[in-house]
Amino acid sequence: MYAAVVHSFGSPPRYDTFETPVPRGPHEVVVEVLAAALHPRVRSGADGSHYSSGGALPMVPGVDGVGRTEDGELLYFVALDDTVGTMAERAVVDRRRAVPLPGDADPVAVAAAMNPGMSSWVALRRRTDFAPGAHVLVLGATGNAGQLAMRIARHLGAGRVVAAGRDPERLAALPALGADEVVSLRGTPEEVAGRLAASAADVDVVIDYLWGEVTERALPALLTARADRSRPLRWIEVGSMSGTELTLPSALLRKANLTLLGSGQGSVSTADIVAELPALAKEITSGTLPVHPVPVPLAEVERAWNTATGPGERIVLVR
Ligand SMILES: NC(=O)c1ccc[n+]([C@@H]2O[C@H](COP(=O)([O-])OP(=O)(O)OC[C@H]3O[C@@H](n4cnc5c(N)ncnc54)[C@H](OP(=O)(O)O)[C@@H]3O)[C@@H](O)[C@H]2O)c1
Repeated sequence: MYAAVVHSFGSPPRYDTFETPVPRGPHEVVVEVLAAALHPRVRSGADGSHYSSGGALPMVPGVDGVGRTEDGELLYFVALDDTVGTMAERAVVDRRRAVPLPGDADPVAVAAAMNPGMSSWVALRRRTDFAPGAHVLVLGATGNAGQLAMRIARHLGAGRVVAAGRDPERLAALPALGADEVVSLRGTPEEVAGRLAASAADVDVVIDYLWGEVTERALPALLTARADRSRPLRWIEVGSMSGTELTLPSALLRKANLTLLGSGQGSVSTADIVAELPALAKEITSGTLPVHPVPVPLAEVERAWNTATGPGERIVLVR
């Protein structure tokens, strides 16, 4: 079959031939892949930097996709944990990692939105007892996952959503997408800390797409300004757009009721992630959680890798 093939972690995948995968057990079926999106997670898998990367080459990137079985069933599926991902003409699907879609679902729209959508959906549903009316801060709200996180928090019952981000134009668009308040992360560390303290000191949950120096400054700003420091605050680390590390002063864990945790592959089992997907897929196919797909033919995967996307857009490789 033809696929996007990574031969070296330093270079984009090439459109090339690759051995067609075959089902290995009773739960596995082959699908024709209709759409597979180029998420940040796919890039980190393809350049070998993701924490789950085993380092084996050549490999086919792609962590999820929409495909059609020989019987004509339309499935959203999460890739198996091996070197053959979803950016290929065919993929083997473990039905325990798949969600049936309505026959009229748009494969490209579903492929674009499921991964960014599940980041907050799974975090709120599986890593916290999310109470109706809870207040949420989305740290890094201008990306696809951050924008969907605002809508998903609201859908799951949030009482107030504060959106913090860097890009002024994208930030200005967030109130129309469901943010009660926006906080700019531009300016001196003191200015940013002051804004976060004023707008988000009393939130119950932080969904953090940034980490690094942004989180290093946001943590003390919020914790110090809390009206009641014994009020629980769950800080859920989901992405690391601003950095993979931070320095955490020990006093922060003593001075407030902070629970610091992450959400992703490993901290949530695959079975628990997949259990959340039918409800998420239903919202996406009904159009309430939009991401604008930019379809690119699989054969042009190298171009796809080097194409910049605009606000709210996601490249999706299609047949
Ligand atoms: N754990 C999970 O389950 C899970 C699932 C899906 C995604 N993720 C992670 O979530 C993160 C976001 O994914 P995505 O799909 O939303 O990516 P995306 O659409 O590419 O958006 C990333 C956003 O991050 C912003 N950003 C980058 N550096 C920043 C900084 N220093 N300060 C503030 N904003 C910054 C960019 O904002 P500008 O507009 O300012 O450039 C951009 O809008 C990635 O790290 C991804 O791996 C995690």
